[in-house]
Amino acid sequence: MSQRTFSIIKPDAVRKGYSAAILAEIEKAGFKIVSIKRLSISKAQAEGFYYVHASRPFFGELTEFMSSGPIFPMVLEKDNAIADLRKLMGATNPAQADEGTIRKKFASSIGENAIHGSDAEDTAAFEIGYFFAGYELK
Ligand code: TYD
Repeated sequence: MSQRTFSIIKPDAVRKGYSAAILAEIEKAGFKIVSIKRLSISKAQAEGFYYVHASRPFFGELTEFMSSGPIFPMVLEKDNAIADLRKLMGATNPAQADEGTIRKKFASSIGENAIHGSDAEDTAAFEIGYFFAGYELK
């Protein structure tokens, strides 16, 4: 069944000029790009987005990094979108990511790993709502 998920091309990938190549991988894999924008977020906005990780040791570094430059938040749609995007992204640590995955191709470290993807339906709903209004999702 058709499903929506939320993704971000992270600041490392945008800085390196990989945005279009990553979008091409996403489209090649059969995702429809429902909505996309380019913006920079504050540290406080990054903290709100990643609130589930607030007590983790890497929280400061993660939110500093996510607010360090422009990002492309987007909403994607296809059958089984949430699980299929996670597969296409590869493991959190690019050193452990499978060949052919976005993180294997474009990420440099566990902290700067090129792409975000929602991990479940409830997180996808929260994350879509964090960046997009209903009228942007038609
Ligand atoms: P997580 O939700 O575990 O990974 P994923 O992005 O694959 O769903 O973690 C969120 C982000 O936090 C991850 O993309 C990069 C950062 N992070 C670190 O910097 N160090 C770590 O040890 C972990 C687990 C994550």
